[in-house]
Amino acid sequence: MIKNKSIRVAVLVSGNGTNLQEIIDSTTTGKININIVAVISENPSAYALTRAKKSGISTHLIDFHKFKTRKIFDEELEKLLITLNLELIVLAGYMRILAESTVNNFIGKIINIHPSLLPAFPGLNTYERVIQSKDRWHGTSVHFVTVELDGGPSFLQYRIKIGPNDTASKLKARVQKGEYEIYPLAIEWFADKRVYFSKGRAFFDGNHLQKPIVIDEKC
Ligand code: GRF
Repeated sequence: MIKNKSIRVAVLVSGNGTNLQEIIDSTTTGKININIVAVISENPSAYALTRAKKSGISTHLIDFHKFKTRKIFDEELEKLLITLNLELIVLAGYMRILAESTVNNFIGKIINIHPSLLPAFPGLNTYERVIQSKDRWHGTSVHFVTVELDGGPSFLQYRIKIGPNDTASKLKARVQKGEYEIYPLAIEWFADKRVYFSKGRAFFDGNHLQKPIVIDEKC
């Protein structure tokens, strides 16, 4: 297959950045063909910023707590994203909700990874909540970002079976292993235009996805 020219990508982070690391490594090894032009954080102590610097990627800190109002913070971030001339924005453990205007400006170009089998468990503490729910399955979802929190269409999920002795931390370790597999894959699909967003829906190889593609944990 003829590969597309590498697309301009920014990764937004707030924390450790293990997903970012996997994306950087997949780029370095040629597994995915993208150009990470910026790593952006709202949190000055995000270790993800250090990871980016170690790889020679330019970093931007838009320190959430240094802004007088939420509106000014949102405007500053949106301004930066526009300046970067991006084709894809990857949220990788980014802990702020993007402003409606930002989402609308980049609709179809923002993806997120959320640790649940969406639409189950949007929001925080998904591991604790799934254990309490007695569900049999958990996992993680890659979805297009829309203005509804964790509500945009998912196109790729990694699924694990919950055992009787599972705890939130055991689930998290297994799910994150899956994230390192599916997030680079999702980005590759996007870069190759195999997956795209149109009129609120996700498409794969030209077909509307009624439900996300699911990869099961290999036992
Ligand atoms: C990931 O597990 C992802 O599901 C969630 O935030 C976590 C970020 O972890 N959105 P890391 O910063 O990539 O290590």
